Amino acid sequence: MIILLTGGTGYIGSHTAIELIKLGHDVEIMDNLFNSKIEVLDKIEKIAGEKPKFHKIDLLDKDGMDKMFAEGKYDLVIHFAGLKAVGESVEKPLKYYENNVGGTINLLECTKKYDVKKIVFSSSATVYGDQGVAELTEEMQTGVGITNPYGETKHMIEEILKDVAEADPEFEITILRYFNPVGSHPSGLIGEDPNGIPNNLMPIIMKVSTGEIEKLRIFGDDYDTVDGTGVRDYIHVVDLAKGHVAAIKKMKQGVSIYNLGTGRGASVLEMVAAFEKASGKKLPYEVVGRRAGDLAEIYANPSKAERELGWKAELTIDDAMNDTINYLKHLKNE
Ligand code: WQD
Repeated sequence: MIILLTGGTGYIGSHTAIELIKLGHDVEIMDNLFNSKIEVLDKIEKIAGEKPKFHKIDLLDKDGMDKMFAEGKYDLVIHFAGLKAVGESVEKPLKYYENNVGGTINLLECTKKYDVKKIVFSSSATVYGDQGVAELTEEMQTGVGITNPYGETKHMIEEILKDVAEADPEFEITILRYFNPVGSHPSGLIGEDPNGIPNNLMPIIMKVSTGEIEKLRIFGDDYDTVDGTGVRDYIHVVDLAKGHVAAIKKMKQGVSIYNLGTGRGASVLEMVAAFEKASGKKLPYEVVGRRAGDLAEIYANPSKAERELGWKAELTIDDAMNDTINYLKHLKNE
């Protein structure tokens, strides 16, 4: 198939591009390079043997997207592109609603106009809000107690996709709810490399280990969890990429929703210990107050994806840490 990846030079998009190219798909990437680097294209080529056709286009550039779709003849779109900094979304809500929701509407108008009816959407566990329980399943009501505009945009886009499918039964839409992506490609050539100051635990741990950030600030150790620190479902980005491959093989009319997680939780201190084990070095940290909006413990029930897509996460946190150390070594030598 000819597959368009919006946001495809980003962390998850680039790993997914590799898996799709390895299976013989023609992959094209559209990205504005706001939070990724053009050099990723050469690394995808080095790993997978083919360089995706690239379109430097922003989700808000309706004319640019229309021209790309007119030439593209796409069979399927995987929509990764979007702003994803939770904290920034609280400070700049309109920027997030315009870019993520408005930009997705622009994209969907193109898919409708050019008859591209297979869509995979990069959603997030954040749409569950606070369910009052740790284990999350797809049939839970979403959109309740979401604590930030970023999460709201993901929820709104899910609702828009459901309405689009309702209006046009030819649409085949799959929503993938990611838990906490971590790790890097085993080649060491690509990994999480956000522009600017990161928000998520792993890229911060990476910058502490390289000395760019003095120490990790652990947001609270007084939660009702295994060791008091927050517990999340950390999934290796290569497993996540393979989840997209499994999903596009099973597209069907209407909207299908799947959790992409391991089904296992790990605490911040357990992640620190795993990184120290992989790096052989102590990681400096300080426990500070809780971060607003954080929940104590959340992890996926991934059984639906296993049952319906035949997909299950196979890599471990230790694999993710070893691959991250390897990636950092490559970054240092670049
Ligand atoms: C993980 C744990 C923090 C940073 C967010 C988004 C979600 C998805 C993944 C995009 C928590 C703790 C973190 C730090 C810390 N993003 N932490 N010190 O909040 O689970 O999810 O990223 O789709 O949508 O909501 O991820 O990595 O920010 O935090 O102690 O400097 O690490 O408290 O327990 P989170 P995270």
